[in-house]
Amino acid sequence: QENVQEKIDYVFKVVVIGDSAVGKTQILSRFTKNDFCFDSKSTIGVEFQTRTVTIKDKVIKAQIWDTAGHSLFSHIHIQTLFGSIAWWIVNSIEICRYRAVTSAYYRGALGAMLVYDITKRPTFDHVARWVEELRAHADNSIVIMLIGNKADLVDLRAVPTEDAVEFAEDQGLFFSETSALSGDNVDGAFFRLLEEIY
Ligand code: GTP
Repeated sequence: QENVQEKIDYVFKVVVIGDSAVGKTQILSRFTKNDFCFDSKSTIGVEFQTRTVTIKDKVIKAQIWDTAGHSLFSHIHIQTLFGSIAWWIVNSIEICRYRAVTSAYYRGALGAMLVYDITKRPTFDHVARWVEELRAHADNSIVIMLIGNKADLVDLRAVPTEDAVEFAEDQGLFFSETSALSGDNVDGAFFRLLEEIY
């Protein structure tokens, strides 16, 4: 399905979000470079990668944005720790910066990959917060795909598939379990999302 020709019919921006260390960067490299890196470092700032695919005879360039899972929520910790006026000012600046970064990150996004780690229950419990964040900052029509990653770690599973299916149905999200390590379902999930956007 790969297409190297110059003519591009559409550019679709997709954001990858979710808690730190759930595998966002690895899912992205699996999809764009068919690559997995064992000593992957935490993402700093915002990066994006692209892959051009053909869907229903149209050439679509998927522009996929990745950021560190903690950066978007970092101000919340500062807020709960300090109450003085000085910290209130620092907080206000942090919150402005946070809003500016968040709105730039979500601006124009047509799809979102919301990733959790099937071996870490808290990363799934936080998914509801990420959905709220999307509803607050992204376009209403954004297509959301919930991704349970690290499906290769079967013995360490802490989130039953049924829990995620139920949550996804409830919230109107698409759902898939993937493994960036083995590559299972990664292409399938991205193609599904891009087809839904289309
Ligand atoms: P931040 O940049 O900090 O937000 O993290 P991230 O969500 O981008 O996570 P990253 O892709 O850096 O992966 C975190 C760790 O999980 C790395 O050690 C990866 O090797 C590992 N990992 C990612 N995907 C998989 C997977 O599908 N299976 C297994 N077994 N490990 C994975």
